[in-house]
Amino acid sequence: EKGGYEHFMLKEIFEQPKSVHDTMRGRLLLDEGVIKMAGIWDHVERFKNANRIIIIACGTSWHAGLIGEYLIEEYARIPVEVEYASEFRYRNPIITDKDVVIAISQSGETADTMAALKLAKEKGAFIYGICNVVDSSIARITDAGSYTHAGPEIGVASTKAFTAQLTILTLIAFKLGKHNGNLGNAEFMSLIAELDAIPKKIEEVLNTTHELTQNIAKDFVKATNFLYLGRGYNYPAALEGALKLKEISYIHAEGYPAAEMKHGPIALIDENMPIVIIAPKKGHYDKIVSNVQEIKARKGKIIAVVNKGDRQVSEMADYVIEIPETSECFSPIVASVPLQLLAYYIAVYRGANVDQPRNLAKSVTVE
Ligand code: F6R
Repeated sequence: EKGGYEHFMLKEIFEQPKSVHDTMRGRLLLDEGVIKMAGIWDHVERFKNANRIIIIACGTSWHAGLIGEYLIEEYARIPVEVEYASEFRYRNPIITDKDVVIAISQSGETADTMAALKLAKEKGAFIYGICNVVDSSIARITDAGSYTHAGPEIGVASTKAFTAQLTILTLIAFKLGKHNGNLGNAEFMSLIAELDAIPKKIEEVLNTTHELTQNIAKDFVKATNFLYLGRGYNYPAALEGALKLKEISYIHAEGYPAAEMKHGPIALIDENMPIVIIAPKKGHYDKIVSNVQEIKARKGKIIAVVNKGDRQVSEMADYVIEIPETSECFSPIVASVPLQLLAYYIAVYRGANVDQPRNLAKSVTVE
């Protein structure tokens, strides 16, 4: 059932060209130039007239939510807040019937997310679900939603569900932006053409980085700490990269927005600190270059995720992972793949049980 792979996690990482494609299938109709999502379309006025969208989730799904905030604010210009379900439910949040809540949950069973939704529902908010498990508790309590068609995710560390969540959030942002006039037709058409090509780019990244990430992983088996840095859309991708590493390898890792480094974490950097930097060409590249210079000056070990043909960051890096170029909004999907592989191989070389890490459960049904 692992399809020849040693672990479910590796199988699921490799399924991503297909799972992202399946998530878009029937929704992204490139030839007609439309995005078809019944759940959004049937309630489009709720979205259009929303005071704001509140995204509620936990863990990896919360990271997807942060990227959703960037997407929806940029393309649909609707204000978005992203909340940890466990914090939201206990802080007496202000919710009105003009709010739209988007819940993101792979399992659809996360207790805190469920409780937060019940609260939002009581206050009259419209609830939209992005779940992977069909007919799960969260899917059932929502007013409408879109399933991620990632297929069953068995590995405890979420991989293909995450990229499928990003795919849905991208479709929602583009659909709403097109509808409310914030996303012009020409840009819409070029974005959806690019989105359509993402499964191929994931395939390419899997092929070009699989061996490379294994080799890099060998050098970090004994590491005790890691920093992950990114800016813009890739800041949440850095958080997710760090979470993947810590949950399966038990190495302490932190994700940070690259510019926040100088407000504290830079104190940690010396020749023993590995730092993963996500620095594709599109999206604050020049700013990232100067962040990398600051790290280099302190002799941090730099693992850089860059676009093919990159020079400036690559010259300073100890390890270079190349990914194909995409618009900034798609780069977390592509950049996450080698970070999943890196975390996977570091954990495997440390002898950890990657599919079932200690202390973790696939669905967290207690708060
Ligand atoms: C990370 C991970 C967890 C889940 C979190 C939310 O790899 O698996 O952080 O993302 O427990 O779970 P769902 O999405 O099922 O609500």
